[in-house]
Amino acid sequence: MVETELQRALTVDKYPRSAKYDQRWVVDNLMGPHPLWSVEALMQVMSLKPGMRILDLGCGTALSSIFLAHEYDVEVYAADLWVKPTENWERIQAAGLGGRVHPIHANARDLPFAAGFFDAVVSIGAYHYFGTDAAYLAHCSGFVKPGGSIGIVVPGLDLEPGATLPSYLADRWVPELGTFFGPTWWRHHWERPGLVTVQVADMVPGGWEDWLRWLEACNLVGRGYEPDETMLRADGGRLLGLTRVVAQVR
Ligand SMILES: C[S@@+](CC[C@H](N)C(=O)[O-])C[C@H]1O[C@@H](n2cnc3c(N)ncnc32)[C@H](O)[C@@H]1O
Repeated sequence: MVETELQRALTVDKYPRSAKYDQRWVVDNLMGPHPLWSVEALMQVMSLKPGMRILDLGCGTALSSIFLAHEYDVEVYAADLWVKPTENWERIQAAGLGGRVHPIHANARDLPFAAGFFDAVVSIGAYHYFGTDAAYLAHCSGFVKPGGSIGIVVPGLDLEPGATLPSYLADRWVPELGTFFGPTWWRHHWERPGLVTVQVADMVPGGWEDWLRWLEACNLVGRGYEPDETMLRADGGRLLGLTRVVAQVR
C-alpha cells in the first residue's frame, strides 16, 4: 500500500511532532521541502510561548500555520500571496483551528498589519522570494514588537561570494537558485541594517538529507521533483541544504 509506504518513509525520529500527522495530507499540499520538518528544525533554535501572536509569512497551503497552532499553542496569521485564503480557510477549519489560525491574502512587501502587532514572524521556504533586498528587513521587522523574533528556513547554498560553481550546479542553474544563500550571507544581510540581533544562522543539520528523503518519498505518489533530487545527490551535503536563521528585534 502506497499510503503505508509514504507514512513509513516520512516518519523519522528526528521530527517526532511531524510524525503524528498524516503524511499524505502533507504531500497532497506540498509547495517545497517538508514544511512541518522545517518548522520543527526551526523550533530547535527558536522558542515560541503559548498564546503568542505569530505571522506565518508566505505560508503557502498553511500546513506550517496549522502545525504551529496545534503544536506550539500559538495564534497564527497565515499570510500568502499565491494561495487563496479561502482555500487555506478550508484546511484550517478541517483541522479544527478556525479560532486560532487566520488566513490572509498579503504581499510580504506591503503587509497590512499594525506596527509591533506580532510576537514573532516565522517563514518557511518563502523568505528568499521577497527578503533578499537590503530594505526588506526594515519592513518586516516593523510588525514585530521589540524583543520579538523572526525565524526563517529557506533553501540555501552555502557558497562564498564569487566562488566557482561546481558543474552539477552550473549545468542546472536557474535564476531562482540565485536567491539560495547560506548562513554567512543571511547573517550579514540581517545584521547590516542594525535592526535585529542574529542569534542563529546555520544550515539545518542533515537538512539536505531530509530534503532528499522527502523528494524520494514524494516520488511514491508522483509528486517528486527530479532536478532538485539530482542536485542534492550530486552535492551530497557539501553546499546545498536548508539555511536556518533566527534573530531578535531590537
Ligand atoms: C515554495 S512556497 C512555500 C510555501 C510554504 N511555506 C511551504 O513551505 O510549503 C513559497 C511561498 O511564498 C509565497 N510568496 C512568494 N512571494 C511572496 C510575497 N511577495 N508575499 C507573500 N508571499 C509570497 C508564495 O505565495 C508561496 O506560497
